[in-house]
Amino acid sequence: MSRPQALVTRTLLPDALDIIRQAADVDVWPDEWPPTAEELRRLASGADGILTTIMDRVDGALLDAAPNLRVVSQLAVGLDNVDVAEATRRGIPVGYTPGVLAKSTADLAFALLLGAARRTVESERAVRAGGWELQFHPTHWLGQDVHEACLGIVGLGQIGREIARRARGFDMDIIYYSRTRNPAAEVEYGVRYVAFPALLAEADFVALSVPLTPETHHLISRPQLEMMKPSGILINVSRGPVVDPRALYEALRDGQIARAALDVTAPEPIAPDDPLLTLENLVITPHIGSAALPSRLNTMKLAARNLAAGLRGEPMEACANPEVYEAA
Ligand code: NAP
Ligand code: GLV
Repeated sequence: MSRPQALVTRTLLPDALDIIRQAADVDVWPDEWPPTAEELRRLASGADGILTTIMDRVDGALLDAAPNLRVVSQLAVGLDNVDVAEATRRGIPVGYTPGVLAKSTADLAFALLLGAARRTVESERAVRAGGWELQFHPTHWLGQDVHEACLGIVGLGQIGREIARRARGFDMDIIYYSRTRNPAAEVEYGVRYVAFPALLAEADFVALSVPLTPETHHLISRPQLEMMKPSGILINVSRGPVVDPRALYEALRDGQIARAALDVTAPEPIAPDDPLLTLENLVITPHIGSAALPSRLNTMKLAARNLAAGLRGEPMEACANPEVYEAA
């Protein structure tokens, strides 16, 4: 009997590829740049399973082009590039990677929060540019305290809860707004539920950890930025389009809010001439939230196990549309 054919759209670490090779013949897209939509359709045309990243659009056109496809495994927890509903209609399970990267992403959120509050990136840029002229001045480089400040978490899922856990170590007053109120987490993490406008008004730091959906697109735009404190700091580790970039630029430029730190932008990568890059009160990292080696390896292995399970016709460890198993 011929072995199943798997398509892996980006080079993975060998341990993860080995897992897939035990279940299938594997075709790995070798370039750093992703295949175009057309190339992806061509590559997927004979595939039984495909392992994707956030840069690959998995839509009806791709699924049409891949008649043998019986599993999609996404190397990420965010699925905004995958039409999960369309996959479900076709009975195709979609794997994803919860549980293995939330801590690393929360670590990065906290790095951004601390960096923005205490102006580490901004002052380091100044030092390198020869701007450290006085040994010390009582009124220079004043930032904000993190300890005992109020943190507002928007989206109390896996990442949001890990951000809360870290914030407790800094004695922060933690409030949250999320689609579904979570009383058990309120007790476990010492967080208080408030309505979204109240969170924006009360928080010294607003941290975004929601998925990108039609409801969260531009969740933070001009009216929401106007509700934040002038000393407020916005942290985004979710997806770029959750924040309206033009409104953020104007709010930072005009001192409507004090600072922002983004791990995600719209678009990605950010254009070199994007006005946001002219602002000193903004820190941007290139979507590195989960880019810590042990977590990334675990993420790759989970995505590989999901793919291999799907190819064997077994249930995946982490499936975004488990209803396909009930329908089968
Ligand atoms: P998660 O566990 O699913 O948590 C998301 C939370 O957001 C859930 O509590 C969810 O509520 C809530 N939510 C959904 N829609 C909402 C809305 N309209 N308003 C308010 N809250 C809403 O996901 P996660 O693992 O924490 O990841 C969150 C997102 O972070 C991912 O989808 C991905 O886009 C992004 N991410 C980024 C990086 C990075 O490298 N920067 C790394 C990993 C993930 P319910 O409880 O009702 O579902
Ligand atoms: C990364 O952005 C993820 O969604 O896992």
